[in-house]
Amino acid sequence: MKLRINGTEHELAVAADMPLLWALRDVQGLTGTKFGCGAGLCGACMVLVDEVPVRACLAPVGDLAGKSVVTIEALESTELGRRIQSAWLAEDVVQCGYCQSGQVVSAYGLLAKVAQPDDAAIDAAMAGNLCRCGTYQRIRKAIKRAAGHG
Ligand code: FES
Repeated sequence: MKLRINGTEHELAVAADMPLLWALRDVQGLTGTKFGCGAGLCGACMVLVDEVPVRACLAPVGDLAGKSVVTIEALESTELGRRIQSAWLAEDVVQCGYCQSGQVVSAYGLLAKVAQPDDAAIDAAMAGNLCRCGTYQRIRKAIKRAAGHG
């Protein structure tokens, strides 16, 4: 099965119904994408598929032929990714850190589409990402900072 991951075509010898999360972590060794609930509830496994945030635990690799998968590992290679990373550091967002790669991927998906999101747009875009440490206020501030109005 051919899969485009972080800009490179990969041939994966996996079943078509394998969740993308397993293929990324266990086959490709891309462990930045986290396993949280495995049931589409927490957002820890968020990746971009054709620039749209998608829960990798729910996406069978067989559905992704011809699509572009981007994981947290590749985001710093873009200007927007670096801006988000800097904002996350400046706002000291992270507490335990487990959910944060998913949070950053969702923030990236939002800012790639809406350069200056308001609070409602941020809340809507981030609603699928849970944080047990409760870093939501800092996440919102970091997104605004990355957008240039924080
Ligand atoms: Fe995919 Fe929780 S691990 S949504």
